[in-house]
Amino acid sequence: MASSFYAFLVLFLWNFLSDSQAFDCNKHVCEDNPEFTPSTLVVKYGDPAFATCEACKKGCRSDVFDIEKSEGIVLKDGETKLTWNVTHITQWDKDPYCFNNLNGTFCCTTLDVTVYQPPQEVSIGFVSHTGPLMEGGRYTLQCAVQDVAPIKNLVVTFYKGQMTLDPQQFLTDQRTPVNKSFFLSLTAKEEFNGEEFWCEATLELGPGGPKPPPVVKSQRLTATVHYGPKLDTSANQTSVTVNEGETLQLNCSAVGNPEPSYTWILPFSNNISHESVYMVKSVSSEHEGNYICSVSNIVREEKITFNVKVKSHKINLLIPILVSVAVVILIIITISVVYQHLKNKRTGNYNLKDVFRFRSRHFLVPAE
Ligand SMILES: *[C@@H]1O[C@H](CO)[C@@H](O)[C@H](O)[C@H]1NC(C)=O
Repeated sequence: MASSFYAFLVLFLWNFLSDSQAFDCNKHVCEDNPEFTPSTLVVKYGDPAFATCEACKKGCRSDVFDIEKSEGIVLKDGETKLTWNVTHITQWDKDPYCFNNLNGTFCCTTLDVTVYQPPQEVSIGFVSHTGPLMEGGRYTLQCAVQDVAPIKNLVVTFYKGQMTLDPQQFLTDQRTPVNKSFFLSLTAKEEFNGEEFWCEATLELGPGGPKPPPVVKSQRLTATVHYGPKLDTSANQTSVTVNEGETLQLNCSAVGNPEPSYTWILPFSNNISHESVYMVKSVSSEHEGNYICSVSNIVREEKITFNVKVKSHKINLLIPILVSVAVVILIIITISVVYQHLKNKRTGNYNLKDVFRFRSRHFLVPAE
C-alpha cells in the first residue's frame, strides 16, 4: 500500500517537476540526500549511460527510495544502492533523479546528464551576396550550424586563413538540437583577396566531456576582392628631365584586381599607347610636353601626368664649340697679321750690301 502511494506521489512530482524550471533537486536542502556516482554525466545522443545512487547513507527500507527515470532500467542491489542503465540515451531534457522519503521528508538528487550532439553540418557564406567583393564594401559572413545540442556549449570561431577573427557563443538553455547562425561583419580590404574564410563549431563540454571536444569545420570560402589601381606615387603630376638623345621611360605600372588597363595621351602624336611603361628610345625636342597616363579597371580610374623636359645637346655643345672656334680664328688672325707685318718689314730693308756684309763677317770670324 505504502509503496504504491509513494510511486503515485513520485509520478505526480516527476510530471510536475520536470515541467517546472524553478525546481532543482540539487538545491533542495535535505538531511540525508541521495548521492549519484558520478555526479554528472556527459553522453553523446544514442550512446549508453550508467550511474549508481546511494539512496540513503543512514540506511533505510527499500520501499522508500528509488530512481525516477524516463528511459533505461534501475536495479536495486538489496541494500540502499541503485544503478541506472541506458543502452541508447534518447532523452534530451529529462534527467533521472534519485530520492528517498524518510519519515515523511522527501529528499532527492538529480543526476546532471548532458546529452550532446555535434553539429550535423557547418557552412559559411556571405549574407545576400555572391561573387567578388568590392574593396571598402561592408559584408556579413554567416556561419550556419545545423542540429547541435546543447547550444550553450557551442563556440563558433571565424577564421581568415589561420587568424582567429571572432569567437561567439549563444548562451541559451535549450537542450534539444537547434540550428543556429552566427554572424560577422567585415569591410573588404585589398589584402583579403585570395584569403580563405571559414568557421569552426566546437562543443565545449567541460572536464566530463570528450577529449578533444567535438569540432566541425565549415568549407573554405576563398575571397576575391576587386580593388582599384594603386599608383606607386601619390602625386598626380611628376616632372621628368631627359637629355636629348637619351631614353625616356615613363612608368605608370599600377596594381589592381582585375588587372588594370592603360591609356597614354602623348604630346607629340595622336596615337594612343596601352603599355604600362611608355618608352622613347632616343628623345628629341619634339618629345617635350605632358604625357597623361590613365590607368583603370572596373573599380576606378587614376590619372598621372608626366611633364617631360628635353635638355638640348646643341646648346650645351655649341657654346664651347663657338668659343673654341672664336679662339682659333683669333689666333689665326693674330698670326697672319704678325706674319704680314714682319714680311713687309723685311722686303722693305733688304739689300745685297747687307747680305755681303753679313757674309764677309762670317768668313772673317774663323780667320781671326
Ligand atoms: C615600373 O614600376 C613597377 C612598380 O614600381 C616596377 O615593378 C616595374 O619594374 C617598373 N618597370 C620598369 C620597366 O621600370
